[in-house]
Amino acid sequence: MISVFGSANMDLVAYVSQAPKRGETVTGREFRTVPGGKGANQAIAAARAGTPVSFLGAVGDDGFGTEMRATLAEAGVDVERLRRVPGPSGIAHIVVDDAGGNSIIVVPGANGTVTGLTDEDRAVIAASQALLLQLELPMEAVVAAARAGRAADVPVILTPAPAQPLPDELLDAVTVLVPNEHEAAAITGVTDPDAAADALLKRVPEVLITLGSEGALYASRSGERLREPAVRVKAVDTTAAGDTFVGAFAVARAQGRAPAECLRFASAAAALSVQREGASTSMPTRAEIEDFLA
Ligand code: RIB
Repeated sequence: MISVFGSANMDLVAYVSQAPKRGETVTGREFRTVPGGKGANQAIAAARAGTPVSFLGAVGDDGFGTEMRATLAEAGVDVERLRRVPGPSGIAHIVVDDAGGNSIIVVPGANGTVTGLTDEDRAVIAASQALLLQLELPMEAVVAAARAGRAADVPVILTPAPAQPLPDELLDAVTVLVPNEHEAAAITGVTDPDAAADALLKRVPEVLITLGSEGALYASRSGERLREPAVRVKAVDTTAAGDTFVGAFAVARAQGRAPAECLRFASAAAALSVQREGASTSMPTRAEIEDFLA
């Protein structure tokens, strides 16, 4: 079982030829509400990729919260530890352009109320094969979860997004850090991915840098360094491609696959997700990933 401690947002998505500039009004072609949030996305991606998943976080007592809980449960995610708190759920205001690129504003809502772990949360984390974290919950809670994972010898896989300063006490508890190229540059101050990986390996044992259309770079302190090219597909919406990649990578890793195989599995999952619109609507099943790889 994999546990994911993270955010759930209702994504409010406008599809438009080109995102508006400041002060400009443009007409979009479509609007959708899609359950998302980096935490919930990773949980759904991992569940569809073929492993039991427990999701720890919070939604509000509004209709969005009810819908997000139902979407997670439908994907097979255990939502026993998903709190329902008074007030609005988190939302993400997303603009997707015709090239499949996006810009996102997140308003945390209920996610912002998660400031720590309950004893039950700790028990779920301790029983996991991996703990997935991102940075859309308050930092104190993310640090507490990472330390709980570390204390129980559970591999902690952190996506450092949205980018922000990372306290030492967090990095000290991380096993695999999965930044994109921009986050890696922001953390290390260097733009070359190999140099950024070298710098990050001084802080964590394993690094996986996602490079968009250039694929991904994996490096470990034990000396492995792998470059996985991106699979060439036509992207219609890249929202949650990174979350899909991490969820699938974590599943393959928890199943004991070698890093090269984990990368191939994760890249295939991400390639499938960018060909579909939305966050939770875009993640492939294990059968789809295996067909694609075959
Ligand atoms: O990573 C994509 C996610 O970022 C979206 O689903 C949105 O909710 C924001 O959290």
